[in-house]
Amino acid sequence: MTRGPEAQTASEAFPLVFTAPHGMAASGDAVAWAAERRDDLDARLRQHGAILFRGFPVACDEDFDAFIRAFRYPGFSYAESLSNAVRSNRTELVFTANEAPSSAEIGLHHEMAQTPVHPSRLFFYCEKPADAGGATFLCRSDALYEALAERHPDFVADCEKHGLLYSLVMPPEDDPTSGVGRSWRSTFSVAERSGAEERMRRLDYTWEWLDGDCLRATTPVLPAVRVLASGRKSLFNQLIAARRWKDARNTPATAVTLGDGRPLDPAAWADVERLAAGLAIDLVWEQGDVALVDNFAVMHGRRSFEGTRCVLASLVAA
Ligand code: FE2
Repeated sequence: MTRGPEAQTASEAFPLVFTAPHGMAASGDAVAWAAERRDDLDARLRQHGAILFRGFPVACDEDFDAFIRAFRYPGFSYAESLSNAVRSNRTELVFTANEAPSSAEIGLHHEMAQTPVHPSRLFFYCEKPADAGGATFLCRSDALYEALAERHPDFVADCEKHGLLYSLVMPPEDDPTSGVGRSWRSTFSVAERSGAEERMRRLDYTWEWLDGDCLRATTPVLPAVRVLASGRKSLFNQLIAARRWKDARNTPATAVTLGDGRPLDPAAWADVERLAAGLAIDLVWEQGDVALVDNFAVMHGRRSFEGTRCVLASLVAA
């Protein structure tokens, strides 16, 4: 039997699951359904951190675009973002999610938390599930904050008090052999050094030009902890992903430090990832699923997979 939206689960459900009302068949009905409830759905998103819409008539990228628009969220501007991912757009709002090799797991991260400009919410849509694997895994960063604060109170206090600095050496041209190999030209969408400097100045970055036309770009101090609307604290940062920022130009220990420049305690830093792995749940995709994720409260990652998998995404501005 198909459960209606009234048949809700416990207040702690993660993600909260809505199944389509019985008989709903047209994309326009799904859009109307969401538009009617958008305030309630957004309130539930803040409570639960993630919502899964299953069985709704969202059959293609255009339907997904229309479903997103039902929420009337402000769109995220790529021009202002400093995303590291390679994206290809399907519609104005919808693009293919990270196209990293299927054999690689993409670790837990908050979208663009290592830059001053990041989306508040994310939509995902499963156009085609993988043959095996390929779940999107999710971890609540408020739960992670509590677990980490219990084990490493000094580390958490330092992060909270001083914030974090992210500092990457970028090559002049894309380096596909590196996970952090995006060139400064591509990152800042510029051709010349002067354009990059102008962009960094506006974003309060500091920088240094290095041999080989490489650029060390350092963010302003960014908060490591964010207070959510619920009052709970969330580890909104990029500490886990940064543990893999390693190539010929970068090491994790130089890529992220406390806001006052001191290095991070390696043991506590390693524990962030270990604890998050224990808290994470797998969202196993079915074709047509739509997920809405609070980017400030929840990290996402991608399990490795076999076959072809196509999950589309869309970003919502803060
Ligand atoms: Fe992502």
